[in-house]
This record gives sequence, structure tokens and C-alpha cells, in this order.
Amino acid sequence: MLSLDFKNVFRVDTTHGFSMDDFLIQAKKIPKFLENIRTRDQGFYSVIDDDVLVASIVKFAKLKKGKYDDIVVCGIGGSALGATCLKQSLTHLFGFQKQKQPRLYVLPNIDPTLIREVVDVIDLPRTLFLIISKSGTTPEIISQYFYFRSLIDKKKLRLADHFVFVTNPNKGLLCKEADRIGIQIFSIPDTVGGRFSVLTSVGLLPSALIGIDISKLLKGARAMRDRFFSVSFKKNLPFQIATSQFLLYQKGNRSTVLMPYAQKLIGFTNWYRQLLAESTGKAMNEKGEIVNVGLTPINALGVTDQHSQTQLYNEGPNDKFILFLTVDDLGKDIPIPVRYAKNNSVAFLRHTSFKELLDIEQHATAHAYTKNNRPNMTISISKIDEEHLGQLFFLFEGATAFLGEYFGIDVFNQPGVELSKKLTKQMLLKKR
Ligand code: PA5
Repeated sequence: MLSLDFKNVFRVDTTHGFSMDDFLIQAKKIPKFLENIRTRDQGFYSVIDDDVLVASIVKFAKLKKGKYDDIVVCGIGGSALGATCLKQSLTHLFGFQKQKQPRLYVLPNIDPTLIREVVDVIDLPRTLFLIISKSGTTPEIISQYFYFRSLIDKKKLRLADHFVFVTNPNKGLLCKEADRIGIQIFSIPDTVGGRFSVLTSVGLLPSALIGIDISKLLKGARAMRDRFFSVSFKKNLPFQIATSQFLLYQKGNRSTVLMPYAQKLIGFTNWYRQLLAESTGKAMNEKGEIVNVGLTPINALGVTDQHSQTQLYNEGPNDKFILFLTVDDLGKDIPIPVRYAKNNSVAFLRHTSFKELLDIEQHATAHAYTKNNRPNMTISISKIDEEHLGQLFFLFEGATAFLGEYFGIDVFNQPGVELSKKLTKQMLLKKR
């Protein structure tokens, strides 16, 4: 189960929040917005029906079972954040698996320290490199490929046993290279942008290789897609999120804080940070007018960041919308042992547990924000598993698509990112 609770947005004064009526009146926009989204030829909502892809990934993972101890993902941005999030959310926090699964390393950087230190810990003859780049030309990833390939060459290992490419099957260096040296390709559909690609082979392949049930991920996403395409305001949770973000943006709340109360969901906040920033940060609207819009994503973790950011959120500029993300069942709870039964200074810790403390701290923090007229809402999921992760991914992908309609911008392009990529290549060529 996944539910949204907006009551704290309605409770803050209307200068900073909005009323239930302001909220509900937006419902009439759903049919037109959905019609526009359908005409955009974006694959993020159809790709989750690709059962052939799922079957081929599952088959590949079965075939490779036991052959590798280390899986290294070379990818950046949308080609890395999904896999990192899935690993952090669905596997042991400190790397211990009940069933023996390969270790997954994701390398979204070219800091030589990262490259050197991953080489320190992997066993090359038992390593599979997943080179993930939709364009197949991103300098960070192609350079990593060249480097790891040189290591495999030096050891005289068979390239096809140590590399898989996840890329556009029709263009870019990787697809040509795969053809030439016989490396298996998993394709990324042209119509799915990097940050919307977690539910394609980009996120599914690394997940399947470390034992995550990818069919359940897609099942969850499909359930949320049904809501996304519903014209009922009550059912359409992605629309509700986008509507609240947009209404609050108009009141000056230009940042969205995503604050899960679950250690395993840190990776999810990083995934969402890219989705929201790269999709909504746009200079021009679709009419070609300069608008310079965008929601600034901030990631926080409860309770940890109560002790680093809460002061700012409570008393600093009232320009943020706080989305709490809570989990009903975090697995076996741990009671807090009673100590100093006669000492009243720690009486509050008597007869409680870590989960109860976590929940009460979240309620107290939400209450404090509300008292200070800081709009906040709570997204709750029953537990952290594949189905709920699938729902969460699609909840925010759908909300982002609706935000595009509200702002009148193309949330699926990224001209600012492309410009930096282009300038990097030009500067590198000039330096020769
Ligand atoms: O969302 C996006 O499109 C980007 O963040 C890309 O995912 C990122 O730049 C990596 O690009 P590529 O997969 O082509 O290497």
C-alpha cells in the first residue's frame, strides 16, 4: 500500500499552503494533461510492459549465476542512480546477503581514486562490467570502459565474458564496438530518457544480477501507472503530488525536500534529486519564451537530518515543500532496554522501541513544521520491497510528467546537460 497525506498543507496558513478547494479544483486539468503526455511519444510508461526484456534479463542472470563475485556498473546520471538506489533499498545495508550474491559497485564518477580503489577490491577474472550509456558516447563512461578493457586485455581474458553493454542499439560507439568484438547488448529504447530509465535494462539488469525480483518492480510500477492514467483526482496520486508542488511553487516554495524515515531509502532521494532537477530546470517553455523555471530538490534523511537541517526548515526562508516518506513495517523492531528506571531524565525512553521512536520523531518534526507554517506532506508505504519501489519510481516519474504540463515545459529533454557534454568534448580536443 502507498498513500499520501496532505493534511499539513491545508493546516498551514494560506499564504504558505493552499486549501482543499484550491487543490481539488485542479482535477479538471487531468484529461487535457494526460492527452498532452500521450502525444509526446515518451516510453517511460510503456516500457514497463516489456515482458520479453524481463525474460531475457532473467535468463541472462540465471546463466551467469555463480560466475561472478563482482559486478561493476560504469554509468552516470540516469544510467547509475537507479541501480544504486535499488541496491541500497533492497539488499543488506552492509553488504551481507543471506543468499550469496555478487557485490555490486556503481561508479558514477571519474575521480581516479574511485577507479583505483574499486580495482583494489574486485577480482578481475570474476568481474562483470556493465557499461551503461544510452548515448554510448559519454566521456566519463567511455573512458572507464577503455580503462577496464585494458585491464581485461592485459590478463588475456575473453572480453565477451567480462563486458555487457547497455546502450542505444543503433548509435554511439558502444553499439559499434559490441558488433565488432561480440559483446552482448541490452538496449535502452530511444523514447526513454536517462533519468526515466530505471525500469529499463539500465536498472533491471544490475538488479537481476544481485538477486532482486525485477518482475515485482514492474508489477508495482504498473499499479501506479493505472493511477497515473486515471482521470479521478482521488486515484491519481502522481497528479496530486505534482499539483501540490506547482501550487506551492506559485507561493514561492521553490524547493522540494524529500525526507524518508528509512536508512535504505537514501538512494531513492538521490534518484529523485536528478529526476526533479534535470526535468523541471528549464530556460524556455514550449512556446519558446524564457521562463527559467525549476524546482530545486533537496535530499534529507530522517532522523539523521533533524540534527542538521531541521533548524533551517523550521525557521529559515519559508521556500520549501517537505515530503516525508515513511514506512509502516521496517522489519523486526528492536525494543529499547529500560535503564535507570528511577532516573526521570530518560523516562521518555521507557517501554518504547527504535521504530516507535523513529515514528514519533517524524510526527513531532511534521508537527513542528506545521506550527511554523511550513507546508509538508507524508507519503507512506507499507514496506520496502520490489513492488513498493516500483510504485515509488512511477509515482515520481508520473508526477514529473504532470509538472511539465503545469509549467508548460518539456521535462524530457536536458539541453543544459548536453551543453556541458559538448563543451567538455570540445575542450578536450582543443588541448591536443
Ligand atoms: O537523464 C539524462 O538524460 C542524463 O542524466 C543521462 O542519464 C546521463 O548524462 C548519462 O548519459 P548516457 O546514458 O548517455 O551516458
